Amino acid sequence: MIWDADLYKTKHAFVFEYGNSLIGDWLQPQTGETILDLGCGTGELTAQLAATGAHVTGLDASPEMIATARRSFPEVTFEVGDATSFTLPQQFDAIFSNATLHWVREKEKAISRMHAQLKKGGRLIIEMGGKGNVDSILRTLDRVMQAKGYHYVPFWYFPSPGEYATLLENAGFRVERVHFFDRPTQLADAANGIIDWLEMFGSHFFANVPENDKQAILQQVQQELAPQVTRDGQLYADYVRLRVAAIKI
Ligand code: BEZ
Repeated sequence: MIWDADLYKTKHAFVFEYGNSLIGDWLQPQTGETILDLGCGTGELTAQLAATGAHVTGLDASPEMIATARRSFPEVTFEVGDATSFTLPQQFDAIFSNATLHWVREKEKAISRMHAQLKKGGRLIIEMGGKGNVDSILRTLDRVMQAKGYHYVPFWYFPSPGEYATLLENAGFRVERVHFFDRPTQLADAANGIIDWLEMFGSHFFANVPENDKQAILQQVQQELAPQVTRDGQLYADYVRLRVAAIKI
């Protein structure tokens, strides 16, 4: 998948803005410790972590995202790497990952890599989409695609707390804290927010759909869903978050 790093930064900045409390309340970075930011995107949170005095590496599978991150934060270390197969020369005191792991369907492989790259006693602090995440968008998309003769194929991995905690335990982590919660998320554009969101994140749904039909589907999803998810003139996506803190044992 090719990412539009500019569109990500301008219209989808909430992805990293919401990561702030994950840093302050959950990760609590310490000066001098080593931290891997897995799925760092355009590097905003990585730079924030580095500013605390930690030695931080940002890793992302997208060369476009890493190029933008390096341009924006030349003093921070960034590497291109896939969550299921990355290897880095050192083990870390902590691995932090915000809004990435739901893209990784080979979740056991990612968990195994995270375990291998952590020091014994190291912290894993993650946030991802949880069970039911963006359900109203996906159900509407499914219905509209079917009505136009296309097949909607689920893509992301949005686990329940029990499911993900069990995977972590099976891989050698002790799960210390879990928070599963609704976080309605305001979309940047009140007129076309759902279209923009699907254009940014959902291109895989349209891999075999001609551009004209894709645009018609997007318009109809926006039209059908907007009245249900508008509050005070703003559009909200029905995000469900799963946060987990675990220790490598
Ligand atoms: C999320 O952060 O929950 C998310 C972002 C993009 C696509 C799917 C889920």
